[in-house]
Amino acid sequence: MITGASTGIGLRCALRLDTLGFRVFAGVRNDGDGEKLTKASSDRIHPIKIDVTEPEQIASAAEQVRSALGGEGLYGLVNNAGIVISGPLEFLRLEDIRRQFEVNVIGQIGVTQAFTGLLRRARGRIVNISSISGVLATPFLGPYCASKFAFEALSDSMRMELKPWGISVSLIQPGSVETPIWDKSAEAADRSVEAMPPEAETLYGPAIEAVRETVDKTRKTACSPDLVAKAVADALTADRPKTRYVVGPGTRGQALFARFAPDRLRDTLIMREMGLHGR
Ligand SMILES: NC(=O)c1ccc[n+]([C@@H]2O[C@H](COP(=O)([O-])OP(=O)(O)OC[C@H]3O[C@@H](n4cnc5c(N)ncnc54)[C@H](OP(=O)(O)O)[C@@H]3O)[C@@H](O)[C@H]2O)c1
Repeated sequence: MITGASTGIGLRCALRLDTLGFRVFAGVRNDGDGEKLTKASSDRIHPIKIDVTEPEQIASAAEQVRSALGGEGLYGLVNNAGIVISGPLEFLRLEDIRRQFEVNVIGQIGVTQAFTGLLRRARGRIVNISSISGVLATPFLGPYCASKFAFEALSDSMRMELKPWGISVSLIQPGSVETPIWDKSAEAADRSVEAMPPEAETLYGPAIEAVRETVDKTRKTACSPDLVAKAVADALTADRPKTRYVVGPGTRGQALFARFAPDRLRDTLIMREMGLHGR
């Protein structure tokens, strides 16, 4: 079962797992995306409607999977659905920050709760799509980073809680990946900035512009979502799945930097990299 399989990493995971012979329940939010997926794959892929912020849809998706499995357990759950809310924390609307947590954190817990019984039957595996932003917080990406830090902590707790039943929990930590999330988050950021008072533009306008330029540069170095799908497949099939998979060029260095660099050095280097140094 994969959430957020309409585009990007989730879509690539669904197609890769299909190729490997898995029967895939692919979470989508509308019928059109489900039809596209069915056309692009074998009949082993079953689109399932699920918005992770809608408890009724989560329950209904779990029920559909339970009945399709006819008494068998579920082998894997890939918690992939996610959005990005960005902007200066001083001015972001609380409702936008709540939405970030609803989708990236609470939704993941809700889905996991609904499917754990089925996973237990198969000694299945959970694969949580985190991010390098789950270990390295950057300015103007506060809500997203906080949601992924939270997801990392929840995954660690979950891994120990579910150990008695042999359910493994792996985290995937990609760096930049070329998916539609970049355009979606840029649009969301533009809408957030428009909703802010004029003071926000005066105080943060140049910094926001510098961050936009950095995002454009970073996107050019983004890796293929296939690389992430490969790590997910590994977490689902390896004899001994790793607890964390760092994915993408340069991402391991960033993870080590996050872990070992002293705070002020880390701040300085991140801000320099983002064109914010000296502001
Ligand atoms: N791309 C990167 O650079 C990158 C790096 C590190 C981690 N990640 C993580 O990878 C995951 C997938 O992102 P992506 O890059 O593949 O982006 P994407 O192409 O935008 O995919 C996000 C998926 O999540 C779905 N989604 C959004 N809100 C949802 C909700 N409320 N309920 C259910 N599904 C929802 C989207 O569905 P709709 O199409 O219906 O909106 C879409 O299928 C995210 O968790 C993201 O944080 C991405």
